Amino acid sequence: MIGIILAAGRGQKINALHTPKPLLWVYGKPLIVRQIELLREADIRNVAVVVGSRGAEIRSAIADANLKDMRIQYIEEPNDDAGILHSFERAAGFVESECVITSCDLVFERNPYQALTKRSDVEVLVSKHKKENEFSGAPVFVETRFGKLVAMGRTLDEYDALHAGIHYFTKKGINNFLAEAKSMDFQEEPSEVIMRLHGNSTVALSFLPEMEWFDINAADTLLRAEMFMRRTHAHAKPAQELVSLKELVPAASFTYTKTQETRVIIESGILKQLSTVRLMGPERAGSHHIIITDENVDTLFGDSVFSQLRNVGYRVTKLVIPAGEQSKSMALYNDFAERIIALGIDEHSIIFALGGGVVANISGLLAATLYRGIGLVHLPTTIMNMLDVSISLKQGINGQKGKNLVGSYYQPLLAVIDPALSMPDSLVRDGISEAIKHAICQDADFYQYLLENAHRVADPLFREEVIKRTINLKIELMHEDMFENHRGMILQYGHEAGHAIEFLSRFELSHGQSIAIGMRVSAEIAKLMEAGENTVDAHKKIFRAYKLPCAIPEYIEPHAIIDALKYNKKTLAREARFVLPDFIGKAWKIKGDYGIPCPMDLVQKAVKKSYGK
Ligand SMILES: NC(=O)c1ccc[n+]([C@@H]2O[C@H](COP(=O)([O-])OP(=O)(O)OC[C@H]3O[C@@H](n4cnc5c(N)ncnc54)[C@H](O)[C@@H]3O)[C@@H](O)[C@H]2O)c1
Repeated sequence: MIGIILAAGRGQKINALHTPKPLLWVYGKPLIVRQIELLREADIRNVAVVVGSRGAEIRSAIADANLKDMRIQYIEEPNDDAGILHSFERAAGFVESECVITSCDLVFERNPYQALTKRSDVEVLVSKHKKENEFSGAPVFVETRFGKLVAMGRTLDEYDALHAGIHYFTKKGINNFLAEAKSMDFQEEPSEVIMRLHGNSTVALSFLPEMEWFDINAADTLLRAEMFMRRTHAHAKPAQELVSLKELVPAASFTYTKTQETRVIIESGILKQLSTVRLMGPERAGSHHIIITDENVDTLFGDSVFSQLRNVGYRVTKLVIPAGEQSKSMALYNDFAERIIALGIDEHSIIFALGGGVVANISGLLAATLYRGIGLVHLPTTIMNMLDVSISLKQGINGQKGKNLVGSYYQPLLAVIDPALSMPDSLVRDGISEAIKHAICQDADFYQYLLENAHRVADPLFREEVIKRTINLKIELMHEDMFENHRGMILQYGHEAGHAIEFLSRFELSHGQSIAIGMRVSAEIAKLMEAGENTVDAHKKIFRAYKLPCAIPEYIEPHAIIDALKYNKKTLAREARFVLPDFIGKAWKIKGDYGIPCPMDLVQKAVKKSYGK
């Protein structure tokens, strides 16, 4: 018996990181490794993987996994657009007596292979269509009668089962299948071929025992599979067991706190006057400093900032990253860490982060970690960075599984903010979304000011006022609660649903746009929970004024948002906690707590209401 895994093809864009499907990680390992392990568990140790243009990466992921007891061969399918039947054809050459052929993108609660009965030359594994796998993501529907195949396809109206992505063939069976496929168009779906074959001979069905399983074809299924695996794992070991373990008694202990000031300078035109102001103390002046910027910002302001620092006499090197979220990656971090060290820095060196939030975040992590911490100075060029990112301790990059998963808290020395800096209006509106968050939760006058001045997005005086007021409101929260456990939670307003929406939009919505929609969802929840005031219209009004979206796009399904909401970095809850508006200008507090527990059915209603304009 040989197990054949179909892992060629271009794959879809499932998350922002453009990872091919076999290399998407679910619960700590790539899907391709998960498949091979399932085959091993079913004692199928002879495996062939059909790979396409991303073959080298797939081989390397398999080589990194502990699969030494398996015989793994690779079948090259050089044409990514060849279609799945070509993969079947290439695989067939490797079959001696019998095989299972499986997709690379399946996640099962338990091993599916025991369910195969192998009583026919061709067998298809199906799962009875039950509520729990309604959202499995499986695209091929099956109609059965008395356990026998009636129809199968992507567009059936009547069906009672789902194709679970696994086929069993004898040598004769796969040859018949290919002969049938060749008499048809080779771009057809395997299910079409199976149905034709079924007309001439018998295709048997085997049935998956009741279990949850996922066919990862979209971002929401990926998230759901990850959540499911975490939930299952979380319940595997009861915490009570820990109580019986012996407490460790320390011989000594220590704590560490450090007080440092971050100076925030807000002055129109200052980015053009950097050579006239003191950006660092004399102890740092002789060190080698680095400017990190992205390719867009570099064309606009890179040369000016670089030459101004050089004119003062600083030793400085400029490094440019590609623009966009992909730069917040381990690979770029690694590369830049080595390059910066090779330039000959020391602990007094400073990284000047010139750009938007992406540049700020990657520069922040580099500054936090190189030489266990060097200087960090923000020169923000987007409003989002001016009023939020550069006033934050949170430095981080993205992991395979999501945003900002790798990072640290690290304090900048200085943020130099130039509200008059030129930028497209869309970048202003995006950042103002965070200002609106503070206004709604903390300051009714500010809300009114923002509403009345929405026509002034290009006016430097308006921007300066917005930046100053937002920063002061943010600092007030940070002073009270740096780590966002109590009143600091207000910083998360709109981010609960907003993050889910940002992810599910595959990052087509910007951060600012996503949290605007997230705030609308929170306002709808507050309304359903009968908070102090109905603030839904106030939200809609201000988002409309700033041309920010306030409705969930139709292409994102409500159930996907609910699933994503149940999942957060810390726990999987039946009840989600939201920051909610009580009145405009005040967040709702129950017994001193700003994280209001909201039953999921109510959240569900609020999400559904948030589709309308
Ligand atoms: N650490 C935090 O507390 C925190 C808070 C909010 C957001 N963030 C992070 O910030 C990032 C988003 O930041 P952003 O919105 O600034 O995006 P960004 O850094 O990706 O910049 C957006 C785009 O605008 C371009 N750009 C920047 N300045 C420009 C200018 N003046 N004129 C023309 N184009 C310009 C950039 O090259 C980029 O293409 C996200 O990664 C998000 O996770 C972090």
